[in-house]
Amino acid sequence: MPVTLEGMFRRARVLTTIAVASIILGSTVACAALHTVGSPSSPSPVITPSVTPTPTPTPVPTAPQFNKNAKSITDPNSIWVVVNKLRPLNPKTYSPPDIVTVPVAHNNPAQMRKVAADALVAMFAAGKNAGAGSMQVQSSWRPYSTQVSVYNGWVASLGKQQADRQSARPGYSEHQTGLAVDISPVPLRCALAACFGTTSQGKWLAANAWKYGYLLRYPADKTKITGYEYEPWHFRYIGVALSTEMHKEGVKTLEEFFGLPAAPDYAK
Ligand code: DAL
Ligand code: ZN
Repeated sequence: MPVTLEGMFRRARVLTTIAVASIILGSTVACAALHTVGSPSSPSPVITPSVTPTPTPTPVPTAPQFNKNAKSITDPNSIWVVVNKLRPLNPKTYSPPDIVTVPVAHNNPAQMRKVAADALVAMFAAGKNAGAGSMQVQSSWRPYSTQVSVYNGWVASLGKQQADRQSARPGYSEHQTGLAVDISPVPLRCALAACFGTTSQGKWLAANAWKYGYLLRYPADKTKITGYEYEPWHFRYIGVALSTEMHKEGVKTLEEFFGLPAAPDYAK
């Protein structure tokens, strides 16, 4: 197509118009941007400070601390009372307030404080259910007067030194609190003898009595602390809270648990 002069002019006008339009548009946008960002009359931008949120601490569940002072270890009515050769009952002729007959098999009268009696019934039933065999009460609550006869009988037959290794003097026996029991198997064998520890009943009791609030009070390896020879048949009711705590801590004697002096002998 031939290029005419008029055509060239028209083309030049169009290009000029486009160029002018581009310049106007460009400067408008630039001005608008300047107004937005840099105009001295515009409000200062609000700077939001970056705050690191303080994390809420997740509470770590802690088991409540066992309170060793929750009950008296001196009051003879307390199920935590600690009786040994250095800690006689006060008064020495103390008699418990709530002795009941324990509805279990027995070789001698079965009488204990109510709370210990109920736990003994449950323990004998559990032992039988577990296949450990039947058990019976060999000796339980002994009033002061009975402990006089029992102790004097041992002194007469064995002499005072040996009697003191296995029998408490009147006023110093856990049996007087109504919280202690000597257990033997049915049918009777190893009664009040070390071989009770080898019977199915003796083994089951040694492992499970704590679940019922009972403590094997005179273990074989603690005679220097308790003052008595091994008595696998003698169990002392101390309540489930204390027996569970002692089991958990692996402490075998009340003396060690409560930080009391060992009681191998009577005070001179
Ligand atoms: N056999 C225990 C020590 C008592 O006589 O109480
Ligand atoms: Zn006993």
